[in-house]
Amino acid sequence: MSEFLTEIDALLAASEAAFSAAEDAESLEAARIDFLGAKKGRLKSVQKLLGGVPKEDKPAAGKRLNEVKGLIQAAFEASQQRIAAPANDAAITEAFDPSLPGATTRIGKLHPITQTIEELTDIMGRLGFSVALGPEVEDERHNSEALNISLEHPARDPLDNFYLSTARKNTAKNNTAPNNKNTAASGGATLIRSQTSTVQIRVMENTPPPIRIISLGRVYRTDEADKTHYPMFHQMEGLWIDTDVTMADLKTVLRLFAVSYLGADVHVRFRPSFFPFTEPSVEADYLWNGAWVEFGGAGMVDPNVLKEVGYDPEEVIGFAFGLGVERLCMRRHNITDIREFYRNNVRFLHQF
Ligand code: PHE
Repeated sequence: MSEFLTEIDALLAASEAAFSAAEDAESLEAARIDFLGAKKGRLKSVQKLLGGVPKEDKPAAGKRLNEVKGLIQAAFEASQQRIAAPANDAAITEAFDPSLPGATTRIGKLHPITQTIEELTDIMGRLGFSVALGPEVEDERHNSEALNISLEHPARDPLDNFYLSTARKNTAKNNTAPNNKNTAASGGATLIRSQTSTVQIRVMENTPPPIRIISLGRVYRTDEADKTHYPMFHQMEGLWIDTDVTMADLKTVLRLFAVSYLGADVHVRFRPSFFPFTEPSVEADYLWNGAWVEFGGAGMVDPNVLKEVGYDPEEVIGFAFGLGVERLCMRRHNITDIREFYRNNVRFLHQF
């Protein structure tokens, strides 16, 4: 019996040594055949010795044989795994050269206009303005009628606006309710908005005064693209309604804003102008490389607009302004061509 046990222990030790010495699949397979081969394997021959073990010792000897069988099989599998996945720590350390420059990962960036919008929102937030949103597809009531823009006004010329022909039919059909203020007067014409002043109306329609909001978003005009024009651009609309807002407040807010965004040395000029929805109206110019450049319009909200949204012009008063976002960003970074923003040229966009 003890002879048998010595034999199988020796077999176990030999097989473990052989399997762990195997360096590749081939030598491991040779070792497997040597020890575990079904016909001439060394395990088989030791197994045969079991016949010579005295009867009373057989159960214990058989048990130990089975244990050893399992251990040999496990040693084989461990080596098999080691050979299949040779990238152990030692190999990695050898292959790693810390003196080589790392592989750079190109990280994306927010579009410069998105960054500008975030910064403008931040500046105006500090001046007490919260953000309001409005749809880009609008009806004529919000894009012009409620803004005191009469039917004859050139701003409503189909050649100057992107009217939506399909939406027009649908809206006309779907809005047959007699008291539907949004479309009743305009016959359901729908367009992509030409200005963010639409949001002034939407906010005042739904909120009682006081109001102090900005709205930033896309507007669309049938302009030919050149260095300073693009058929789609962004505006920042501002609206402040309360009982005692003055033109001086308007000028102060626009000046503070300009100083915050463009720097303390910015020069601001207000020129008398006309907008149907403000009275009096001004245009705001900023000095840029020695020339006055228009950044937007502003003025005291016209009493007709206040009446349109159900406010009493004897009770409340306010101002509104609309500034071009691209132009602000261009002035800040000295960008000379608005089209750069929309060329998807990563080398340009990555600079901001
Ligand atoms: N909506 C005007 C434009 O797009 C700008 C403006 C906004 C003027 C608010 C006055 C008040 O040109």
